[in-house]
Amino acid sequence: MTRTHLALAAAVVALAGCRSAAAPRVAAASAAPPAWEQENPLKPLPAPPLGIEVNWAALRVTPEKARLGRWLFYDPRLSADGTISCATCHQPEHAFSEVEPHSTGIGGKTGTRKSPSFVNGALAISPAYFWDGRAATLQEQAKGPMVNPVEMGATHEQVVANVSRAGAYRPYFREAFGDERITLDRVVDAIAAYEATRLSGNSAWDRYDAGDEHALTPAADRGRELFFGRGRCNQCHLGQNFTDGKFHDIGVGWKDPGPGKPPASGYADRGRYDVTHDPKDLGAFKTPTLRDCSKHAPYMHDGSLATLREVMFHYARGGTDNPHLDEAIAPFPLSEADAEDLVAFMKALDGEGYQDVAPSHLPR
Ligand code: HEC
Ligand code: HEC
Repeated sequence: MTRTHLALAAAVVALAGCRSAAAPRVAAASAAPPAWEQENPLKPLPAPPLGIEVNWAALRVTPEKARLGRWLFYDPRLSADGTISCATCHQPEHAFSEVEPHSTGIGGKTGTRKSPSFVNGALAISPAYFWDGRAATLQEQAKGPMVNPVEMGATHEQVVANVSRAGAYRPYFREAFGDERITLDRVVDAIAAYEATRLSGNSAWDRYDAGDEHALTPAADRGRELFFGRGRCNQCHLGQNFTDGKFHDIGVGWKDPGPGKPPASGYADRGRYDVTHDPKDLGAFKTPTLRDCSKHAPYMHDGSLATLREVMFHYARGGTDNPHLDEAIAPFPLSEADAEDLVAFMKALDGEGYQDVAPSHLPR
């Protein structure tokens, strides 16, 4: 900078200082950003990890929404009594699922279904959320737990009022949506944007699939052959996220109700049927992603299978026979060693990109 430029700059500062309206703005700009912002700076959207394709524009995800959504996702003020956040049941260290068969929500209340992982959840082949697919978008999905009496136990009005009371949120709504209005649709849109950035890829499988023949251990490689071969697992677990996004009855949670009782009364949870009322959907649940499944035993919509090994023998038996068992499910021979190989292949789907830790400061 030349001398003249320096002098000019000084003059501009002096001038600005004289204008009373400008003074506070200058002061605010030079102050350090608040703790929650230092910890959660605006970042470009993540580059998709190997094996994953994402179109941020089509998903309407922006860095501003994702950053706001990250705070909201971890904010217990979204619940009626300020104790439960989305992350209570969707824990980053368990690939945004948890290691309990049933979640515990507000006041220690428990539901009957397992909290599913949503890694790569925005990239669904046929989008449907919840085990029974009752929500068509991540945005619509996020409205559910807020008002579920055994989850966050609030009303949507309460959620908006609580977020509005934390005045420091306002500028971030402006940044993400153009003005400071805090609405339910904006809250869930921001949360969905954060969820969409939880990608998982660059697993041993992705490296193998991209041409690295040595990426899989010998056991995982044998498991891969079983998965795509004898086990025919890819009839339903397919695509970049290992799910068809469709609904199947593989016999989890069905018990023979005994003679004289209608077979339909054998389902502990009727699954997709409660959404469609189509008898062929009795006991059908959404195919979950297999990515990072090693991080969140127990398994299935009811958490009834304790380990991946148990899952493999469930399939090898041909599931649990029941009136609506999916025709893609059939018994196949499986030794202990085969089961270990399949489990090794499941672990080869552990990826990178979704990892996060809860922020320790939230806008106040
Ligand atoms: C008390 C535990 C609990 C809390 C709190 C909770 N969830 Fe869930 N979540 C679950 C359970 C259980 C399911 C499955 C319910 C079902 O299928 O009926 C689920 C399902 C989901 C799914 C569907 C995933 C898929 O692929 O189908 C998403 C996404 C999700 N939750 C996000 C959220 C968000 C966002 C919040 C906060 C606004 C939240 N959850 C709060 C337990 C919880
Ligand atoms: C007919 C479609 C279909 C086929 C074939 C299939 N799956 Fe599944 N898979 C599902 C569905 C649906 C669920 C969830 C069922 C439930 O919760 O009731 C599931 C659940 C799982 C889970 C539990 C994931 C979790 O997060 O709880 C694993 C692991 C799994 N499958 C692996 C496999 C393997 C390995 C094979 C091949 C041996 C296989 N699947 C074949 C549809 C299928």
